[in-house]
Amino acid sequence: MEHKSQLSLLLHIVAILPFVQVVLGGTALGQTPQMGWNSWNAFKATVNYTVVQEVIDLFESLGLKKAGYNYVLLDDGWSSFNRTTDGYLQANATSFPQGIEALAKELHGQGLKLGLYGDSGHYTCAWRPGSWGYEERDAQTFASWGVDYLKYDNCGGFQSMTEAPQIRFGAMKNALALSGRDIFYSVCEWGYQFPWHWGGGIGHSYRMSGDITTSFTNETSCQCKTAYCLNTGYAGCSVLTIINKMKEISQYQTRGHWLDMDMLEIGNANFTLNQQQTHFAFWAALKSPLIIGADLSKLSNDSVAVLTNQAIIALNQDVLGEPVIYREEFSKEGLFQVWTGKVQGGFVILLLNEKSYPQTVSLVLSDLGLGSPKKVVELWSDEKLTNCTKFDGILESYQTLVFKVQT
Ligand code: GAL
Repeated sequence: MEHKSQLSLLLHIVAILPFVQVVLGGTALGQTPQMGWNSWNAFKATVNYTVVQEVIDLFESLGLKKAGYNYVLLDDGWSSFNRTTDGYLQANATSFPQGIEALAKELHGQGLKLGLYGDSGHYTCAWRPGSWGYEERDAQTFASWGVDYLKYDNCGGFQSMTEAPQIRFGAMKNALALSGRDIFYSVCEWGYQFPWHWGGGIGHSYRMSGDITTSFTNETSCQCKTAYCLNTGYAGCSVLTIINKMKEISQYQTRGHWLDMDMLEIGNANFTLNQQQTHFAFWAALKSPLIIGADLSKLSNDSVAVLTNQAIIALNQDVLGEPVIYREEFSKEGLFQVWTGKVQGGFVILLLNEKSYPQTVSLVLSDLGLGSPKKVVELWSDEKLTNCTKFDGILESYQTLVFKVQT
């Protein structure tokens, strides 16, 4: 009898082990910034199964999967406008006739992972059901479907918006922990209530600004009006504005809790090669998630080359997980920017020309206080600096040179 109850106790312990691991945070999710593709920027709420099929094929044929992109993220619009009669989330039956569980299996079979979008309010931004008050039920639904990632948004109606974001986003964090599945949690709170002070305690990543737009420099909202360049608008942020906002906050980032600069607009916008490289270099070196937002079937060869550049991706995935920091003392306000940060084996320097005309820039590398340079390679050109103590050269319009320095 005693033997039987010991056995039953043992079986119970074995059954709850995965649960205990998730609750105690013993998971390895998010140790480097996540990489993948998201449907929103290119397809808005029209995302459907055919689009996902194309993504699966192009991940393979364009070399994106090999470069490290593995999450396929369905943003707003994947779900029906209504819950089931008994209150469960369900897929939009026209767009995903075979349902989400089958899709997750298909993606897993391809070595990829599936992410869904949800909202901390009553509604999503495109008026699908939100999870406010349904957190545990929805987290369990996601887990039962085999979902690997949840992007959780900040829309959703008066009542829910009066609750502090820590409560709304925290409720889903707890629900995911109870779901029994390791689900990456991407908090999307638009940087409104200073998430760099609390987002890291809740999500594996958290958005630090309003939505990115296809503009490199100009925007109608979201501009930095003061030196403290935050909380400036829900949407319409240009690439340069998002970079500028990071000047104030990149130091708050901790490993495993990444500041999310929003999806990449490479391939959507009419950016020059220099602009695309600047966009990608900053997202990578600031340890932002690298989430492609383009229609992959329309990517130019240049865009594919930027998005699959191994040396730049390696900065993003570097084991130290340290974002670059803005170096005001070496930069010239409004003209060019110098950012530096440690990476395994040395450090990295980003040199950005913020102007539409070329500029001559010089920088003494040994003055940066990060050790004495032994070998310096510019990563976009793969060229070695002959004099590794100093850079003297011309930066083209909106160009970013990325120096990897071995010390
Ligand atoms: C916004 C979010 C976007 C996208 C959109 C969907 O709030 O910032 O990235 O998810 O909602 O409606």
